[in-house]
Amino acid sequence: MNEAVVFTLNGKEVRIEGPPAMPLLFALRGQLDHKGTRLGCGEGHCGACTVTLDGVPVTSCDLPISAIAGKNVGTVEGVLAADHPLAAALIRHQAGQCGYCLPGILTRAAALIDQGQCAEDIRNALDANLCRCGAHGRIMAAIQEVAS
Ligand code: FES
Repeated sequence: MNEAVVFTLNGKEVRIEGPPAMPLLFALRGQLDHKGTRLGCGEGHCGACTVTLDGVPVTSCDLPISAIAGKNVGTVEGVLAADHPLAAALIRHQAGQCGYCLPGILTRAAALIDQGQCAEDIRNALDANLCRCGAHGRIMAAIQEVAS
């Protein structure tokens, strides 16, 4: 049975409907046209689907919509709309190769930078975001530049 869920998405109140166990990721991409958040493993292991929930980075592929009622969800679209300095730094450092993991990395790292975490702590936190391409060093250089 479907359930209606109201929450705040990038500062705007939105309403979705679906089975309570439906992952937030599916609602973001399928109902709210926020396709920047990616589906990777679908099991909470790769970080491609990272969003923030009340400011804390979480994976959205294993987050049921029943858990987000009344909460604040942030996606990569919100990070870009806010002109976060990390987005510009990633471009400056040419930190995109295939780019599939980048929205999740940007979302997590931007949230941690905003919390005042240092580059080393952010590097450790990014263990939750898998990247298998050659851009990882450039991604880290961009984070180092903005976090320091
Ligand atoms: Fe969510 Fe991999 S798709 S962690």
